[in-house]
Order: sequence, then structure tokens, then C-alpha cells
Amino acid sequence: MMRTESLLKPINIFDYEALARERLQPAIWDYYQGGSDDEVTLRESRAVFERIRLRPRVLVDVSVIDMQTTILGVPAPMPVMVAPTAAHMLAHPEGECATARGAGQAGAFMIASTSATCTPEQIASEASGPLWFQLYTYRDLNVSAALVRRAEAAGYRAIVLTVDTPRLGSRERDLRNQFLIGKQVTMVNLPAVKEVALSSAARHTVDTWETVDWLRSVTSLPIVLKGILTAEDALLAAERGIEGIVVSNHGGRQLDGAVTSIEALPEVVEAVEGRCEVYVDGGIRRGTDILKALALGARAVLVGRPVIWGLAVNGAEGVCHVLELLRKELELAMMLAGRPTLASIDRSLVRRSAEYPG
Ligand code: FNR
Repeated sequence: MMRTESLLKPINIFDYEALARERLQPAIWDYYQGGSDDEVTLRESRAVFERIRLRPRVLVDVSVIDMQTTILGVPAPMPVMVAPTAAHMLAHPEGECATARGAGQAGAFMIASTSATCTPEQIASEASGPLWFQLYTYRDLNVSAALVRRAEAAGYRAIVLTVDTPRLGSRERDLRNQFLIGKQVTMVNLPAVKEVALSSAARHTVDTWETVDWLRSVTSLPIVLKGILTAEDALLAAERGIEGIVVSNHGGRQLDGAVTSIEALPEVVEAVEGRCEVYVDGGIRRGTDILKALALGARAVLVGRPVIWGLAVNGAEGVCHVLELLRKELELAMMLAGRPTLASIDRSLVRRSAEYPG
């Protein structure tokens, strides 16, 4: 046990961040933490939450707080999901298997990444809650189709196609550290690629809307597109009958200077007019951040790095505790905002201002 762990019991997500930093090798920390180029979008994704102001209602009966919902028709105890992130074995020897146990225990859906270090089947065997599978396509679409079929057979309930990564953004921390994931762990879904170089163009195809049509032809599962930031693309997705959208800038790791997802959320919600579900991720660290996202029209949020921090600090238990902290904070925030149910959380909870016109 590390010295700080015995001294400090994490009481919020930032405590987990500090503990994880002490625990991880600096190059691995940089890989998880970093964004692309100047990290403008990364920084702003956090800062924007601190500028959004809430308009609490009072004298509402908030003695019972109900945050149960459904996500793509499946009951969810809370509107929080585990975002797909790569290579969990860099954070903990049990990798995604531990994440799945922690997520299940906390009642959060988990989205497993194509770039995982445990197979979809291994993850499914450890999971007690719903799983979705995040897909990066390969040049050979037959390989991707086989992966989708395996996920389907293992009980995954949706395929999340990440659409903001025609190639990886330039993550300069990793370049400086000469960090190569493939040297440290095996991305088990990439059997043909021995070592995944950071800018590997070999890994992905360049997806287009035709790829989305292809995906529809190979699976009967609902399709979620992750990485949409504009009303224009949201409209195209809705017109194609896509079941869900994750408004995301990939945790500030793709196009630097891209809009924050919480700022893009209202136009996406407006464009789809309820035709599909809309989720959001990026910079969510507090229950009040979740409340703001819900008020701006998200059905649920995804959290990326905080889950990795929990995993690094204390495996499945750490993951569960991170999610549990968010649940508790959301519960308190709903109470203090006078919004005891998800249905009572609406746009009027967020103040419109010059800084946040929405
Ligand atoms: C990611 N993200 C990501 N997204 C995806 O679709 N497939 C993936 O394999 C990964 N891998 C990945 C690795 C790491 C280390 C990070 C930090 C992020 C993006 C992820 O799903 C999500 O969009 C962001 O992490 C959300 O932002 P926060 O919660 O980390 O601020």
C-alpha cells in the first residue's frame, strides 16, 4: 500500500486523480491524461463546466431522489456510463475485467473499447451490468465484422462506432515520451498488429457514412455514433435511424480547438428532435457536471479518465467507488437544485448568459 493511500481516503474524483498520478509511471500517466497538440480542448472541456451556472428551485419536496432511467430501453440505476478507453492493463493487472466488475457493482453500463487488453468475452464474463462494444474499424472490414459478431454473441447490447478518429490526434506527451502502448501491453483485439505505433494509419480504415451503412448490415444491435459535435452531423445520423449519439471530442485527444461537448450538446439535442438518444462526455468530474449535462439535454453521461484513476488506485473497488461518488454527488445536486427526478431536470436549470448562450 502506498503511503498516501493510508493517509488519504479519497472523497472525490480529484483525490483519485492525485492518487493515480502517484501510482502510475509518468509515461503511462501522460498517455491517460494527455490531449492533442496544445491541449486547448482538453483544458476547456473541464473549465467550461465551472462557467455554467445553475438556477436552483426551492421548497420542492426533495425527500426522495429518483435517478433511475433507461438507456436504449434497458433499465439503468443512474444516468452514468463508463466511457470506452484503451488498455486498462496499463492501469491495473486485471485490466478491463476489473473495470467491468466495478461498473457492474456500481450499476453503470460499461462501453468496452476495441483497444482493450481483455477480450470481449473475458469482459462479459466479469460483468454484472449491461455492456456496449466500441468499434474502431480495420482496413479489412471482415475482421471488424467478426469482432462485432463476437460482441453480439457475448451479450453486448449496442455497438458504439467512434467517428472522430480517422487517425489518432497528435498527442505530444506520448511523442516526447516515445510511448508505444504495444510495447507495454497487448491490445488483444488487434491480433495482426504486433506493435501499434501512435500514428498508425494501418490500424483504422477512414470511415464514412458508408461505414455506418455497412455496420447496420452486419449487426442487429442498436448503433451509437460517438464523436459528433455539430447539428449537421447529428441530423445526418438521425436521418439514418441511428439509435444514439455521444457528443464528444474524445477527451480532447483528437482535433485540438474543437468545441467542448457540453457546448455542442444543445444544438445536437435540438437537431435530433428526440429521434435518437443523446449522451455526452468530456471533463465530467462532479455530480453537478452531470446535472448540467442532463439539464442541457443529455440522457446520460460517460466518464473516461476518472474510471481509469479508480482502477489504478484500487482495481474494481476503485472503479466502483469513483462511480458511487458520482452517484452520491448527483443525488445531492438534484436535491439542492430542487429537481428530485430526471424528468424535472430541464433547460431552465441552466442560466443563459453571454458566456454560455446555449
Ligand atoms: C479514450 N477515449 C476513447 N474513445 C473511444 O471511442 N475508444 C477508445 O479506445 C478510447 N480510448 C481512450 C483512451 C484514453 C486514455 C482516454 C483518456 C480516452 C475517449 C473516451 O471514450 C472519452 O470520450 C473521454 O475520455 C471522455 O473524457 P473524460 O471523461 O476522460 O474527460
